[in-house]
Amino acid sequence: MVIGIDIGSTTTKVASLGSNNEIIKIKTKAIDAITSATGAFGKMIMENHFRLEDIEKINITGAGSSKITGNLFGIRTDKIDEMSAIGIGGKYLSKKDQIIISNIGTGTAIIQVNGDIITHLGGTGVGGGTITGLAKELIKTSEYSAIVQYASQGNINNVDLNIGDITETDIGFLSKDFTASNFGKMLDIATKEDIALGIINMAYQVIGMVSVFAARSKNNDIVVVTGFGSNNPLGQKILTHISKAYSINFEFPVDAEYATAIGAALSK
Ligand SMILES: Nc1ncnc2c1ncn2[C@@H]1O[C@H](COP(=O)(O)OP(=O)(O)OP(=O)(O)O)[C@@H](O)[C@H]1O
Ligand SMILES: [Mg+2]
Repeated sequence: MVIGIDIGSTTTKVASLGSNNEIIKIKTKAIDAITSATGAFGKMIMENHFRLEDIEKINITGAGSSKITGNLFGIRTDKIDEMSAIGIGGKYLSKKDQIIISNIGTGTAIIQVNGDIITHLGGTGVGGGTITGLAKELIKTSEYSAIVQYASQGNINNVDLNIGDITETDIGFLSKDFTASNFGKMLDIATKEDIALGIINMAYQVIGMVSVFAARSKNNDIVVVTGFGSNNPLGQKILTHISKAYSINFEFPVDAEYATAIGAALSK
């Protein structure tokens, strides 16, 4: 079997396909690249009772993979281009081969899959790291689950200026509940909850719009969302709202946070 290790800026993911094509996976927080890669690999082996001799190859990818030289544990270890891994993984999880992938990790990368051709289109530095970084300063927590918990009770109208705040009518195809300016209202009475929601809303709206423009530029209307940011229910709701106005479908495949690691495992 081939094991894919994705050493991301924040988390390290390890994935492999089992004999029935089931996805076997492990996730750890990134410390330094070597510790998190070897640690996560070890955990994967122990928990699944794999034998080292059954592992024909390790494919490593992600920002931290550049720090690893040579073979891990005497097993052939190859480096895989991260954007290719995202493309292969997103294509596998979505079961589609004409897609745009928006990989929401610490930052966000946008990739086009056109059959076997994978192209890195660009992206934005706005991603999961933006959410935790802004929350650390503005609401004094960078713990992801706490931010999401706060945001679930927030009122966006205390933070954002909506189109309905500035005009009596819709603006073109944008209805009054669309954002005119993120953080453009910022009332004094805004609570931690409201600010948490404002941060998440801003991050996902930026990612959503960058993804929409990328998709439109390639005459595509399917954006497959991968990375840890894919499975945030609030984020999914924000992207789905954008989806309706711009006729672009955002899809959130199961195991999307492992897309890069799965893509690495499937790479030659
Ligand atoms: N339980 C969680 N613990 C930590 N981060 C989480 C959690 N759930 C979601 N996140 C978010 O996911 C982000 C990390 O996503 P992911 O693991 O896909 O990135 P990465 O692969 O490490 O980074 P990149 O691909 O940009 O190098 C964090 O910045 C955080 O906002
Ligand atoms: Mg990543």
